[in-house]
Amino acid sequence: MKKLICALFILFASQAAAQMKPSAAPPAAADEKESILTQETNIWDVIQKRRSVRKFKPDSIPESAVQKIINAARMAPTSGNQQPWKFLIIRDRNKINEMKEKCIERSLLRYNPANQKQITKEEYEKLIRTSLDNYFSAPVYIVVLTDNESMYPDYNHWDGPLAAGYLMLAARALGYGTVFITDVIPENVSKEVFQIPDRYTRVCITPVGIPVEWPAPPPKKNLEDFIVYEKF
Ligand SMILES: Cc1cc2nc3c(=O)[nH]c(=O)nc-3n(C[C@H](O)[C@H](O)[C@H](O)COP(=O)(O)O)c2cc1C
Repeated sequence: MKKLICALFILFASQAAAQMKPSAAPPAAADEKESILTQETNIWDVIQKRRSVRKFKPDSIPESAVQKIINAARMAPTSGNQQPWKFLIIRDRNKINEMKEKCIERSLLRYNPANQKQITKEEYEKLIRTSLDNYFSAPVYIVVLTDNESMYPDYNHWDGPLAAGYLMLAARALGYGTVFITDVIPENVSKEVFQIPDRYTRVCITPVGIPVEWPAPPPKKNLEDFIVYEKF
């Protein structure tokens, strides 16, 4: 039985590949000049130096770099090779600001004087604004989505974050910072602002940009904390 399921999975995977359309032509480039950033070519350095970045310089990113990043993301493994993703690229400053204002509105709703003894509502708003100004300072945002109508939608929750991981490493390789955002920009806010159809589930949204500074490495557990040999 297991063998049969496996064979069906492989069959569907090859059918899925056969049905795939040739990739769409890239949209007109916003800025085609080559990136002036130093590129990391050593995969170990890229992995070590990736950081979650939450404040960016306003410098634009060439469309060729964005394409390169998404091209790396789509190389991620997927169940049965289903490739259930969409990558929504956002550069429109008005839309980015609209998203920010909606996030601020929602954060302010969470102000509870009983829990904020040390801080007034005005101070709270100032803190929220500063934090969100930083999150929304990047020139490009990418929303990573999976299609609920994909071939194996039950596997999307594995396939989605894998692509996001590739995307973040590829961005780092080109010298750009990213951060896997979930709660700070709620899914319904991004869906509303960008009219994302219900058939897509948001995996994350990430800014892509040149960091104001690369954050220091956050504390990570030791290698031994993760490894179990042979038997628990
Ligand atoms: C599932 C997931 C959800 C996350 N959500 C957020 C978020 O909403 N806002 C944020 O600033 N960072 C978010 N992060 C980033 C983590 O805070 C970050 O990866 C962690 O602190 C380790 O830092 P590093 O990425 O620099 O190694 C998220 C990361 C993951 C994997």
